[in-house]
Amino acid sequence: MSTLVVGSGFVGTGIARRLVAAGDAVTLVSRGRPADPPEEYGARWAALDATDARACGRLVARLRPRRIVLVHGPSDVTWCEAHPAEAELAHSSVAAAFAGLGGRARVVMISTDNVFDGTSPRNTEATSVSPANAYGRAKHRAEQVLLARAADALALRVSLVYGHEPADAGKWLNYFAACAHRLRAGERVEAPDDQWTTPVHVEDVAEVVAALLSCPTPLPPVLHLGGPDRVSRAEWATVIARSLGLPAALVVPVPKAGSRYASRPRNACLAGDLLGTLPATRDIPIRGVVEGAHDLTAVFASS
Ligand SMILES: NC(=O)c1ccc[n+]([C@@H]2O[C@H](COP(=O)([O-])OP(=O)(O)OC[C@H]3O[C@@H](n4cnc5c(N)ncnc54)[C@H](OP(=O)(O)O)[C@@H]3O)[C@@H](O)[C@H]2O)c1
Repeated sequence: MSTLVVGSGFVGTGIARRLVAAGDAVTLVSRGRPADPPEEYGARWAALDATDARACGRLVARLRPRRIVLVHGPSDVTWCEAHPAEAELAHSSVAAAFAGLGGRARVVMISTDNVFDGTSPRNTEATSVSPANAYGRAKHRAEQVLLARAADALALRVSLVYGHEPADAGKWLNYFAACAHRLRAGERVEAPDDQWTTPVHVEDVAEVVAALLSCPTPLPPVLHLGGPDRVSRAEWATVIARSLGLPAALVVPVPKAGSRYASRPRNACLAGDLLGTLPATRDIPIRGVVEGAHDLTAVFASS
């Protein structure tokens, strides 16, 4: 089975690793070579600016993928807030390019909880969309473009994803990794106590994506994936400190206003009501934050 993963960053790499382990022939694409060399875990990489529709067409004609995962940037919420037009153009042009090229391929786009305004502590697949910020608007527009034009596509809205990334990855790290490295260095971590998320381990995201790609029956156009725990960033940073055996006092609760997280929805929380009923995904266990932190302790302790 050949799979094209558009975006070779944190989430794309996690998905690619899981698909390779299942025997897929995986090609990741991005503009720059990923820090985590795909050849080392059995995938291939090709250079592609996915906003270039012609280049996407040439690549798809060459690879003829049976499955396509859209998991490209821009992913930085703060950057998108400062560059809303560029963010929307990037996400919707890539969605448009692959919606028309999928052919017989299933296309899964990784979307976000930022398509909700954060007023509800629980956002299901039935909750009305009302993007919280420019990033949420760009991702929602891309969902609409993809779902309107592709024959077999779905948007998987995923809550805050976490897992291991090295301190020197040269990019803004996922929240868990950023907290873990700072706490291990003895630094204080200012963490909002008024912004809640339902964090989900990157390996659990990859497991769900693999199941959705393999599912032989048609799927709903929109699915939600969140972890079972709703935690504030301050609560979560405290869980991370405790799991690493570090003083919880290093975590300093602050309001999200004035922080890097100011434009994030108050509740960036997803409930996968529909995902939990599908035969393909209902038995996949999704880790809570304590179990997820426990599972990551060894790799952070040695990095
Ligand atoms: N991380 C999360 O918590 C989370 C949660 C929900 C949804 N998502 C979604 O998942 C996607 C990826 O997130 P991430 O955390 O993995 O981000 P990331 O680590 O920043 O990776 C983004 C990847 O996209 C590539 N990319 C950016 N523009 C591109 C272009 N024009 N053509 C081809 N590749 C391009 C980047 O490489 P180059 O810059 O070298 O091209 C990079 O490999 C985003 O769309 C985000 O909305 C993430």
